[in-house]
Amino acid sequence: MSILFKLCFLVSAASAAKILGVVLTPSYSHQIVFKPLWRELSLRGHQVTTITTHPIKDRRLVNLTEIDLSSFLNQSSQHIKQHIGVAQKSFLQELQHFVITMTGLMDQQLDYAPVKKLINDKEAQFDLLIVEYLWGTPLAFAHRFNCPFIGMLSLDGSNRVYKRIGNPAHSSLYPDQMLPFGNELSLSQRVVSFMYDLAFDVYFEETFAGMERKVVEKHFGSDCPHIPNLSRNISMLFVDSDPIFHHNRPLVPAVVQIGGGSHRSVPKPLPKELQSVLDKATNGFIYFSLGSNVKSEFLPDHTIDLILEVFAELPYTILWKFGEEITNKPNNVIISKWLPQEDVLRHPNIKLFITQGGLQSMDEAIFSHVPMVGIPFFGDQPYNVKKLVNKGLGLELNYQNLEKNHFKETILEVINNPRYRNTIKKLAELAQDQPMTGIEKAVWWTEYVLRHKGAKHLRSPLLDIPWYQYLLLDVIGVLLSVFLVTLFSIVFMMRSLIRLIARSKLVVKFEKKKSS
Ligand SMILES: *[C@@H]1O[C@H](CO)[C@@H](O)[C@H](O)[C@H]1NC(C)=O
Ligand SMILES: *[C@@H]1O[C@H](CO)[C@@H](O)[C@H](O)[C@H]1NC(C)=O
Ligand SMILES: *[C@@H]1O[C@H](CO)[C@@H](O)[C@H](O)[C@H]1NC(C)=O
Ligand SMILES: *[C@@H]1O[C@H](CO)[C@@H](O)[C@H](O)[C@H]1NC(C)=O
Repeated sequence: MSILFKLCFLVSAASAAKILGVVLTPSYSHQIVFKPLWRELSLRGHQVTTITTHPIKDRRLVNLTEIDLSSFLNQSSQHIKQHIGVAQKSFLQELQHFVITMTGLMDQQLDYAPVKKLINDKEAQFDLLIVEYLWGTPLAFAHRFNCPFIGMLSLDGSNRVYKRIGNPAHSSLYPDQMLPFGNELSLSQRVVSFMYDLAFDVYFEETFAGMERKVVEKHFGSDCPHIPNLSRNISMLFVDSDPIFHHNRPLVPAVVQIGGGSHRSVPKPLPKELQSVLDKATNGFIYFSLGSNVKSEFLPDHTIDLILEVFAELPYTILWKFGEEITNKPNNVIISKWLPQEDVLRHPNIKLFITQGGLQSMDEAIFSHVPMVGIPFFGDQPYNVKKLVNKGLGLELNYQNLEKNHFKETILEVINNPRYRNTIKKLAELAQDQPMTGIEKAVWWTEYVLRHKGAKHLRSPLLDIPWYQYLLLDVIGVLLSVFLVTLFSIVFMMRSLIRLIARSKLVVKFEKKKSS
């Protein structure tokens, strides 16, 4: 009887944890990577509650409760539209803009009645928080529910993120994704990359934390710890990267790479009409989409006209994700408000994908072996597209000075030169040759953290030593002192010796003089 009771208790303790997932960024591409994890964890019997702008809304997932923040999507779309209108912004301005916008938005999201109710619910209790690790504010949920937390990213981590979990980071090898550098840096780029990291270490980290502090105190009370302090208690970090496409880097055991196409869905048939159009495009078709944040209709009119002129001269069908009507559109151009991107990319007639360089879009193209032309706009897109070019997966264009002939030649080069498609195919196969899929890894490590109530034993020792020790300043100081002391001693001894010899010579001379 007591054994049976114990057994039941053990099983329920291990299998039915309460997990809170918080992903506040109002962007499809940020949310999509988390969805399979929520689904999988709930199917395994965990009680999962998520706060998300993109709920799954699947009634069959009885163990998943979603707090729907989709009403905040419209706002962020307006922000991006304004943002694209601003030419030439520095990356620091851009980053500041993101943080200010997101902090304001999170303030409203935390004020949203169902979220507020959860925060204030005395009965609510969670065993684990899984949180998008892009902003500091949501970490306050870990304090509120007094539970361990896992950080997760829909991108690779930046040096800032890696430093927070005690993973070594190097500015010359791994420039921040906000810098449009790719992975092969010139000397001047290495200088900028170093200054950027330094600026964060000594200034921005605290400044941003200060901005978020107000929101944290407002919603979680003034006794909530300082977020940079809280963030050092992270149990694990899941990054959406893999060693093949994401510039291989050394990782501490608390970091798990879940990339390699983990968010991709199973193939579904295309809508009938679309299927027949693409089947008929025997000469091949180009798929053009700027993703879910940047919308093609945000482009200036003269750019849209230029793009249409070039498309009219191409011998291919063009499928363009475009939200409005185009009156003067050539016959070979088909527009649509929404397209099942993954299944379009899987169609055998596809020749090329023109993309803004979002990580998830690129992932989907790579694993369908489709070469790309990247037209980056903001955020990590310039970085991603540089990397795409470095790796030989396609070419880059700049939307601010798009030129007709160059645009056309770039498209034709990527379509006609087999080099791009061959490289993609080879690297995609390498990236998928792993013992477990990304999502299997994420589930396994989540349950590991649940089993051990955190992962303190994986904590990087880097978090617990002062920075001057990591930079070897104390060791250099000791060695330098020893060197200097030795040097001075030698100099002192030499001088004494020389003086001694000189004096003895003098004495000899004196004696000689005396005797002569
Ligand atoms: C829900 O969780 C229970 C255990 O708590 C599990 O037995 C069941 O299979 C789960 N059902 C679904 C549809 O996720
Ligand atoms: C989105 O917001 C803008 C202004 O904030 C408003 O004019 C527009 O009607 C909204 N659209 C929808 C679909 O809610
Ligand atoms: C953060 O932690 C450090 C020690 O690790 C402490 O000195 C500092 O006061 C803390 N900051 C806040 C605001 O709690
Ligand atoms: C981090 O975890 C330690 C050990 O569990 C705890 O003592 C400390 O208060 C935590 N720090 C913060 C800022 O939550």
